[in-house]
Amino acid sequence: MSPIPDEIIEQVRDAADVVALIGEHVELKRTGSDYRGACPFHGGAHRNFAVIPRKQMFYCFVCHEAGDVFTFYMKKLGLDYPAAVREVAAKVGIVIPERSTGGPDPREPLYEAVAVAAEWYSARLRDGADATPARAYLEERGLDLASLLPLGLGFAPRGDEFLAAMRKLGYADERLMEAGLVVKREDGSIRPRFWGRLLFPIHDLRGRVVGFGGRVLGEGEPKYLNSPDSVVFHKGRLLYNLHHAKTAIRRAEAAVIVEGYFDVLRLVEAGIEHVVAPLGTGLTTDQAQLLRRFAEQVLLLYDADAAGLRATFRAADELLRAGCHVSVATLPQGRDPDQLAREGGAAAVQAVLSDAVDVLERKLQLLERRGWLGTLAGRRRALDRLVPTIRAATDPVTRDLYVGRTAEALGVSRHSVEHEVGATVSRAAPVESPAAAGRPARLTSAERGLLRVMVHEPAMRGRIAEHLERGAGLSAAGRALVVALGSLGTEPAAAALPGLEGDARALLTELLGQPTRGMDVDAEVEGWLRRLDERSLDARSGEIERALPFTPDSEKSELMRQLGDLKRQKQQLNTKAGWNVIRKGRSGAR
Ligand code: UTP
Ligand code: MN
Repeated sequence: MSPIPDEIIEQVRDAADVVALIGEHVELKRTGSDYRGACPFHGGAHRNFAVIPRKQMFYCFVCHEAGDVFTFYMKKLGLDYPAAVREVAAKVGIVIPERSTGGPDPREPLYEAVAVAAEWYSARLRDGADATPARAYLEERGLDLASLLPLGLGFAPRGDEFLAAMRKLGYADERLMEAGLVVKREDGSIRPRFWGRLLFPIHDLRGRVVGFGGRVLGEGEPKYLNSPDSVVFHKGRLLYNLHHAKTAIRRAEAAVIVEGYFDVLRLVEAGIEHVVAPLGTGLTTDQAQLLRRFAEQVLLLYDADAAGLRATFRAADELLRAGCHVSVATLPQGRDPDQLAREGGAAAVQAVLSDAVDVLERKLQLLERRGWLGTLAGRRRALDRLVPTIRAATDPVTRDLYVGRTAEALGVSRHSVEHEVGATVSRAAPVESPAAAGRPARLTSAERGLLRVMVHEPAMRGRIAEHLERGAGLSAAGRALVVALGSLGTEPAAAALPGLEGDARALLTELLGQPTRGMDVDAEVEGWLRRLDERSLDARSGEIERALPFTPDSEKSELMRQLGDLKRQKQQLNTKAGWNVIRKGRSGAR
């Protein structure tokens, strides 16, 4: 589908009555110039959710979800951006051309064919005489077919009956082929792709069936056959059961990832509904980002074997990069979640889930158990194993905690860990290269953390802005954000969105999605401000040291004096009391 032109997006935004549209999903009551209701995102009972018509925005004072009418549709209905724009456009009666050439969505016929196929397969599993072995198989695995019907399991028989039925309904072979439902034989004839398999329908976020995973009955190769990628099915961008789990995930503020379709079935049956699985590949970047839209906290519940452990840590890195907090649940040896639930019921799974530990902690546990933390050489190797996880953590607080925990566990300094990770926080600020100036400059974890606090804690804005404006290190987007937030007063940060564009807008949107809930804000801010001050002292010392060799002797002593002064300030900085004195002294001098 061609991208929607910006002018049309603006037109739709202008035409949309945010109160009326959000009011279709949330009961709103007028309070002053705003409208208030119960927040549909964190599910609170009080009227903490505000719709602000003047700004065409919504904002929740408790969970801090915020955005415009498109964001609301994305978050509430799980749509992507273009789909949300189209949905709103349809509401306000604006016609968006589907493609530049006109005409309907070319994928429509494929969605329809897959949906009809899914119904056919599901009826077959229910009633087909030749599906008796499939029903027996489910029964033997202890799964109750009736309770699983809502998940839409199906049975693909051997033979050409499916093909004949689809043809009879008017679906042409080309269309079936494009939808991944049939394949061409060597001799050019057509046959169903799935042949004697139990089928797990795979849905997109809107709940449309877009493909299948097919398990062989009993032994056979391959154990699972999936639909091929097509214009409606992308195995790297979908998650099994997300369409169904998304509500439970929001409610639990967490998602559980398992490896297999059967694991999902079993957990859902056991009443653990916030569960999804990738589609037979390692978790992809797209899948991690997709999940992050619904939950910050993610629990990995993978098989307890070597392959499962490797897959766990790879998935964890993707999730950390997407900004999730990741913990790892450990199953008893040789078990998968399906077996555990079957043997011990929901309680056994809940017990394993509540024993989950943070992924870095899990790595440390394993390294400890292997005896690596007992020797110097082992610790060196252990650091190499931990660094990728630390590096993957994009959330500044998580990364900071990881650096600290690693330093503590290995008995090395934070500085050494940061050095390995490639963080430059405690070194002199790097000179911006012309090449770097063109792309969105990266923020240090301290800068990010401080901006995040400015977004969510209006009371701390003034003090942080003062420090950030003084430091020279901030990216252009970061500076724009500091200025915008600094001038907001105590209004919700989302109010700054309309005035920002480009990277600054993207940065604010991102930070709005990372509430400070559960964070020890005061302590974190103290630590970050100290790091900023330390960095700017380092930068000034570095400048002087570089200048020294080129300075005439007559001026050298003055530079040496300044250098000594900076060193002393840095020493003071490292004791908390001293640090407060420096800050007070400075702001007093302004
Ligand atoms: P498993 O082999 O653990 O399957 O593969 P499972 O879901 O536990 O199935 P049972 O319990 O043995 O019947 C985990 C996932 O990997 C994918 C599937 O998505 C499966 O659910 N997979 C596995 C494939 O795509 N192809 C295969 O051949 C095997
Ligand atoms: Mn299994």
